[in-house]
Amino acid sequence: MNAEEVKPKRFYYILHPRPVVVIITRCANGKINAMSASWITPVSEDHPTIAVAIDRTSFTHECLEYSGEATINIPSFIHADLVYKIGTSSGREIDKIERFRITLIGSKKISTPRWSEAVGWLEVKVDRYIDIGEVRLYVFNVVESYMRKDVAGEWGWDTRKASILHHGVGRAFYTVGRVLLAG
Ligand SMILES: Cc1cc2nc3c(=O)[nH]c(=O)nc-3n(C[C@H](O)[C@H](O)[C@H](O)COP(=O)(O)O)c2cc1C
Repeated sequence: MNAEEVKPKRFYYILHPRPVVVIITRCANGKINAMSASWITPVSEDHPTIAVAIDRTSFTHECLEYSGEATINIPSFIHADLVYKIGTSSGREIDKIERFRITLIGSKKISTPRWSEAVGWLEVKVDRYIDIGEVRLYVFNVVESYMRKDVAGEWGWDTRKASILHHGVGRAFYTVGRVLLAG
C-alpha cells in the first residue's frame, strides 16, 4: 500500500495523546496553584523518579523554584473541562484553586497539598533540572505514590472504573479504551 505521509503542524502531535496530570505547587505568600501537564514521564524505578517539562514563563515554574516540591494529581475523564481551564489560565492572574473550586487535602511527606478528587497522586521533590529551549525539564524524586483502591486492580488502573484522561491537541482529550492482556 502506498500510504501518503502526513506532516503534522507540530512534531509532538505524533506523540499524543498523552496522559495528563494536574500539578499542584506551593508558591510565595502561601498561595497554592494548579496547572495541567502532559509532557511527563517515569524515569527510573531503582531511584523512583519522574520528569516533567515545565515552561519557564509559567507561574508553576516560579512556585517550583520557591518550594522545590509538588503533588502530581491524576484526573479522570470527568475532569476534562477543568483540566483544560487550568491549562489555559495562569495563577499569576487568578487564584485557580478558588475560581475552579479545586478541593485540597494535606499530603503525607511534603507540605504541598494534593487534589482530593484525583484518582491517584504522587508527592514529589525536585532532584535536578535541565533547561532546554523554553522549558525547564524537572527530574523529581517520588516520595509517595497512591492509586485509589476502588479504581485500581492487578494491572494498574481498572479502565472500566477509571478511564484516565489523555490529552490530544488543543481541546481534544481521549479516554483509555479496552485492556488487552498479551502473551
Ligand atoms: C492538557 C494540557 C496539557 C499541558 N501540558 C503542559 C506541559 O506538559 N508543560 C507545560 O509547561 N505546560 C503545559 N500546558 C500549559 C500549561 O498548563 C499552561 O501554560 C498554564 O496556563 C500554566 O499555568 P500557571 O501559569 O498557573 O503555572 C498544558 C495545557 C493543557 C491544557
